Amino acid sequence: MNTKNTLSVCLFPAAGYGTRFLPATKAMPKEMLPILTKPLIQYGVEEAMEAGMNTMAIVTGRGKRAIEDHFDISYELEQQIKGTSKEKMLYGVRHIIDQCTFSYTRQIEMKGLGHAILTGETLIGEQPFAVVLADDLCVNESEGVLTQMVKLYQQYHCSIVAIEAIDPSKTHQYGVIAGEMIEEGIYRVTTMVEKPSPSDAPSNLAIIGRYILTPDIFDILRETSPGKGGEIQITDALMEQAKQGKVIAYQFKGKRYDCGSIDGYVQATMELYQQEKSQ
Ligand code: UTP
Repeated sequence: MNTKNTLSVCLFPAAGYGTRFLPATKAMPKEMLPILTKPLIQYGVEEAMEAGMNTMAIVTGRGKRAIEDHFDISYELEQQIKGTSKEKMLYGVRHIIDQCTFSYTRQIEMKGLGHAILTGETLIGEQPFAVVLADDLCVNESEGVLTQMVKLYQQYHCSIVAIEAIDPSKTHQYGVIAGEMIEEGIYRVTTMVEKPSPSDAPSNLAIIGRYILTPDIFDILRETSPGKGGEIQITDALMEQAKQGKVIAYQFKGKRYDCGSIDGYVQATMELYQQEKSQ
């Protein structure tokens, strides 16, 4: 069990249909799409590990096996490449398997991100936890976004959402917050709206796929009715915590690629490729 200051579990909702990547996502989750040689979810797991977490809780839908098999030993393959130059290509994922525990549960009906997080309760229990939407790939020159957020959690002990200033014409794609700035780039949230039109948006500060949540969120989610798009929205549940002054929004340092969209995915691939080539 955790002390108040530490977080050991990271939840990965990975049950969405990923329709923007059909047919690639017909039989596998979009979280398994690679950026260069690593699937998106591996970047997320590495970020969580860097932030001190060693229990990865994954909510799957279809394509469960692809994720489970990725974070497992492949005896036949490893035997095949043992002693060759290719062996080192598996070192990264082997390190993850050695250091972390993986647990899985299945979201039977895709009723939205809030519902996916509630489905993960069985893997988490009564402790604060991080959430990574692996299709938001975050890269940093120094500390990862979750590491930055864990530090903030140690200061505020409440739910935290990562935010980014977006082009105001794109508010309808995000949860958008408003709040009072308590430190540079840190807000106490007063309002959250899921996918508002630009004219209804309370600001241009959009929530991206990194959260730290306190476990009372589960009881709130149980009581949350379907919202925008008929889905159970995590934004609506967080709004209940925000009413009690218990949500912080954090303008993270680093760069995010929206790899759930073709444009963001291609941009991430090109930029990470350029970086790798220049090393
Ligand atoms: P998205 O809004 O990107 O939806 O989900 P999607 O279904 O994955 O993708 P598109 O829009 O059809 O292309 C945001 C995150 O929430 C998860 C997704 O896996 C993704 O990480 N999610 C969403 C669930 O796990 N369950 C759901 O019911 C909905």
